[in-house]
Amino acid sequence: MMMFSLDDLWKSRFDGKECFNALEGLSASVHGGDIVTIVGPSGSGKSTLLLLLNRLEDPDRGRITYLGRDLRKWNVLDLRRQVGMVFQQSVMLSGTVRENVLYGPRLVGRECDEDPEALLRQVGLDSSLANRDARDLSGGQQQRVALARVLANDPAVLLLDEPTSALDQNAARGIEELLLGMQREKGLTCLWVTHDLAQALRLDGETWVLDCGRLVEAGPTVEVLNQPQHPAAREYLRSRLERGEAR
Ligand SMILES: Nc1ncnc2c1ncn2[C@@H]1O[C@H](COP(=O)(O)OP(=O)(O)OP(=O)(O)O)[C@@H](O)[C@H]1O
Ligand SMILES: [Mg+2]
Repeated sequence: MMMFSLDDLWKSRFDGKECFNALEGLSASVHGGDIVTIVGPSGSGKSTLLLLLNRLEDPDRGRITYLGRDLRKWNVLDLRRQVGMVFQQSVMLSGTVRENVLYGPRLVGRECDEDPEALLRQVGLDSSLANRDARDLSGGQQQRVALARVLANDPAVLLLDEPTSALDQNAARGIEELLLGMQREKGLTCLWVTHDLAQALRLDGETWVLDCGRLVEAGPTVEVLNQPQHPAAREYLRSRLERGEAR
């Protein structure tokens, strides 16, 4: 099933001095159950692209459809219930872990019909944490609470913007495995921005390489990382490997 279709997306930004294109004519599609890792140099437009997909921003030109329907025709809360977002560092609201989890559905205008403690267990947290002050948790634990908060909406798609880059290896692997499990069991679709090529290989889905707002390479992760065709993709991957990225 086609989840997202992206057709000739353009987005300009103003850097205080001049206008430039953060996205330039980007077209792609995402199918149900895909895990798409999005890589590319800093400033290449990865975060900008994710923001368009649950309407935190709109493109200047081009069209996005979700489940065949123009994004602008979706009720934005319905869309955000189905298409959840997790950032690099999640903001915990003051209050308990349970309150933070329950806030996910409230953000999209609903009540939580799942047990918050079951959600915590699902993301690998002990349910006894439910009564703790969320802001007292470690970074890795907070990232899991943020995931539980999004999963409380039972999303079909997750947009993940470097969700594990502030975590240690173990915590990062835990989140990868959790999401891979949800992909296998529930057909969860993920668009996952990462700078970690070893992580992209572990997720082993599709990879898109962005460069200066353009999608310069897309295909199965192993092929894209091992045999990039486009010069900009080659250059980016080479520079990452020189910094000691595993393959
Ligand atoms: N709110 C904003 N206002 C103006 N310019 C912005 C804004 N957000 C991003 N930009 C610029 O748009 C371009 C694309 O930014 P974007 O955040 O999408 O890059 P990125 O690929 O996510 O980079 P990184 O890997 O560093 O997170 C960059 O040049 C950035 O400086
Ligand atoms: Mg970014």
